[in-house]
Amino acid sequence: MRKNLLIGLIVTVFLSVVIYAVFFREKEVITPLTNSWDFAIPNQDVPSGLVSLKAEDCGTCHQEHYEEWKLATHAHAWTDLQFQAELKKESSPFMCINCHIPLQNQQEFKVTGLINGDIYRPVKEKNPHFDPILQKEGITCASCHVRNNEIIGATGSELAPHPVRKAPELLNENLCIGCHNASAVITPTLACTFQTGDEWKAGPFYGEKNCIDCHMTEVERPLVTGYPVRKSHRHWFTGSGIPKFDTVQTTIQNGLVFKPSSIAKVYAADEVFTFDFKAKNENAGHRVPSGDPERFIKVYLTLINDQGDTLKFKENRIGEEWEWYPEAKKLSDNNFDPGEERTYKLEHILKKKGDYKLLVKVTKHRLNKENAEYNGLGTNYPLFITIYNEQYDFSVE
Ligand code: HEC
Ligand code: HEC
Ligand code: HEC
Ligand code: HEC
Ligand code: HEC
Repeated sequence: MRKNLLIGLIVTVFLSVVIYAVFFREKEVITPLTNSWDFAIPNQDVPSGLVSLKAEDCGTCHQEHYEEWKLATHAHAWTDLQFQAELKKESSPFMCINCHIPLQNQQEFKVTGLINGDIYRPVKEKNPHFDPILQKEGITCASCHVRNNEIIGATGSELAPHPVRKAPELLNENLCIGCHNASAVITPTLACTFQTGDEWKAGPFYGEKNCIDCHMTEVERPLVTGYPVRKSHRHWFTGSGIPKFDTVQTTIQNGLVFKPSSIAKVYAADEVFTFDFKAKNENAGHRVPSGDPERFIKVYLTLINDQGDTLKFKENRIGEEWEWYPEAKKLSDNNFDPGEERTYKLEHILKKKGDYKLLVKVTKHRLNKENAEYNGLGTNYPLFITIYNEQYDFSVE
């Protein structure tokens, strides 16, 4: 009797599972990819005359381009500690990698669609052309220069040992904007917001100077030792100048230019001390800071007496403030527009005779300490640089 009951129960459960699976389970539909950043650049073959797509191999001939590129953050777009930390989070969808290792050859899997349109359920197949060394190179030479299995260039040189297709239309600012401009709310708590392209288009440099004019300075040099001198471009792609590692150089001016008001050597007691610190975005073709919403700048003004007491302290933050939970939302944004000027003021009534000093400091940050700790970036990861640091001495008699 007991046994029959048990069998009956098992059969019922089994039938229920089958009925549920057949009739009620959500139908799985494969939906196509739609956004530009959902796609990798198709697998490329090694162009004839070359041994590989790797930067190091391009560098056997294009030595200077290679040495410069190695110092660019582009070369670290995959290995970067923060990127790797964020990529490992469950909240990071598959397409994170498409701007950081843009060539299909750099990716282990090909993504051909999404199950039920869910970005966390990509349809993947093994990529037979996957090259793990090329992956480490991040945004590498081939990311920008190899299309349809050929090297693309702006001039179409006939001296190269590899095929060159003249394609200046693929090597202009749209190449940069393809990655440096993305606004999308991917999930309620995940928003992609880089608007450097839109900021440039809305600003005074549009039609005058583009991304390449400012970030790839022109230089006359041979493209390969022993070849004729030509118009060439530096491949450092320096931006903020905040290094990732000690080796990355600062080769671009700061966007902001600072002008302190003059300070007398001597003031009278009870006189009002006033100091104006002007900051103007003169050099950037877009807002400052731009791109990653984690970037910010701090302006500090500190007035100190000869006892070392701080009489006045002012701290200003320039950047965006975001709230990520429960919904990604920009709370505020006081980035400098191109050409915009602001004045930071400090005022104090100088009561006592003696010596005083005014400290003025400006720092430019890639991300804040809390986020660096949260992502386990360690103590060596450079978070900021100091771009202005002056002490002005005066006395009250
Ligand atoms: C549309 C292209 C694109 C996609 C997609 C993309 N990124 Fe990026 N990512 C960029 C660009 C461009 C920068 C550099 C922006 C800057 O420095 O202002 C960047 C920078 C970063 C940085 C470094 C920030 C810094 O200042 O060092 C991290 C970390 C990062 N991305 C993580 C991610 C993650 C995680 C995803 C997926 C959710 C993702 N990225 C998807 C284009 C992209
Ligand atoms: C064996 C040497 C050699 C290797 C390896 C090599 N190149 Fe070249 N490349 C040349 C020479 C030579 C030229 C022509 C120089 C000239 O015209 O002054 C050239 C020209 C170019 C140009 C300019 C095209 C134009 O006319 O606008 C680009 C871009 C380029 N190479 C990219 C690459 C990339 C990317 C790689 C690696 C995937 C690579 N090259 C590997 C020798 C080489
Ligand atoms: C395939 C996508 C991609 C393309 C194309 C691209 N970038 Fe980037 N760029 C990135 C990513 C991602 C980073 C961030 C790398 C990191 O910090 O690890 C970056 C970083 C930079 C930075 C450094 C920002 C800083 O201060 O750290 C500058 C400047 C820059 N890119 C300019 C350009 C210019 C100019 C072009 C066009 C010639 C261009 N990029 C093309 C994706 C791209
Ligand atoms: C982020 C995109 C990007 C990457 C990465 C990149 N280049 Fe370029 N490269 C360009 C652009 C843009 C030009 C300039 C086109 C023009 O003349 O307007 C250029 C120009 C060149 C030229 C032609 C001469 C010159 O200097 O203008 C050579 C050669 C070259 N690159 C080689 C390389 C090599 C080698 C690497 C890797 C070590 C590399 N590039 C990485 C975008 C890139
Ligand atoms: C008129 C010159 C100029 C033009 C045009 C220009 N930039 Fe910049 N860019 C700068 C300067 C200067 C900085 C350094 C800003 C600072 O102080 O951090 C910068 C910084 C950056 C950064 C780092 C973000 C930051 O806050 O420092 C990125 C990324 C960048 N530029 C990408 C681009 C792209 C993409 C374009 C084209 C759409 C472009 N730039 C056009 C001058 C220019």
